[in-house]
Amino acid sequence: MLIDAHDRRITYLRLSLTDRCNLRCQYCMPAEGLNWIPHEAVLQDDEIVTLLETVFLPLGLQKLRLTGGEPLLRKGLPDLVSRIAALPGMTDLALTTNGIYLAGLAERLRAAGLQRINVSLDSLKPERFAEITRGGDIEKVRQGIARAVAAGLDPVKVNMVVIPGTNDDEILDFAEWTLSEKVHVRFIEMMHVGDRNFFEERKYVPVEALITTIRERHGLDVGTQPVTGNGPARIFQIPGALGTIGFISPMSHTFCDTCNRIRLTADGQIKACLMRPEEQDLLGLLRRGASPEEMQQLVRNSLGSKPEHHDWGAGLPIHRTMSQIGG
Ligand code: 5AD
Ligand code: SF4
Repeated sequence: MLIDAHDRRITYLRLSLTDRCNLRCQYCMPAEGLNWIPHEAVLQDDEIVTLLETVFLPLGLQKLRLTGGEPLLRKGLPDLVSRIAALPGMTDLALTTNGIYLAGLAERLRAAGLQRINVSLDSLKPERFAEITRGGDIEKVRQGIARAVAAGLDPVKVNMVVIPGTNDDEILDFAEWTLSEKVHVRFIEMMHVGDRNFFEERKYVPVEALITTIRERHGLDVGTQPVTGNGPARIFQIPGALGTIGFISPMSHTFCDTCNRIRLTADGQIKACLMRPEEQDLLGLLRRGASPEEMQQLVRNSLGSKPEHHDWGAGLPIHRTMSQIGG
């Protein structure tokens, strides 16, 4: 069992399968991409399975989310998912994707044992989606979401990052999507992590404003339907809707008090806090032949850099972007 110095039980691992992406969302990375991690430095399937089996599961991290960059770029992903899903003690297995390759993979991922999925989608307007993602085809994402629902992935959540001046006029469109389809929309305040100039110009829209907008039009009940894996989201539902609406407010509130997560980057570095530069080289230890006990100790030690509250990395240089950490 992993408990940090501030009495938080750490049960949730976010595992980045690649730092690469087939989109270039404006708030996430520059048009030319980033300096990708060389392939030989990326965790291999066997290494992932070994680390889960001998380090993370024994420490009580039973909730796993596969992230990127874009995790569906990873070769042989359904096989890896089935190996992970078969590990004893894995209670919750989820994945976050941009959805571009989802239509062709949803059924195989479901069959492999993936339980649920989050799809990032910041606009329902094709041209605007292409602009935000610098070239993405929304039709592929919409087909991916439909196939994921049909394949029985449940819940299928749609993450919408609210970008002031860009997509904040689509709040009702996203909310109304839940009326007729079993999609669970999650509005996320844009976090100021990465390119400071981009965020300084735009600020963020507090979720309270979104809640008011939707409530005035449709009414909004406090969610009663159980939805797996709500983490820091506050959940509501338009009366009679099939899906739910959640609000995630990393800017107007911090979630540090109840934070239960750590992260493993695609090159095998443990990060105990999204906002802190400290990393522990777990993959290096594994490749040098360390024992499970030594590796578990490294994970425990990493919690030393998990602050009680973050300070938005005040004054620190940008150490990694969201896509390099895994969101
Ligand atoms: N603020 C909020 N969400 C972000 N994401 C990426 N960058 C940011 C940011 N600065 C989201 C993606 C995706 C998830 C992994 O994180 O849109 O939904
Ligand atoms: Fe890719 Fe996600 Fe970053 Fe967009 S936000 S560029 S989809 S990693």
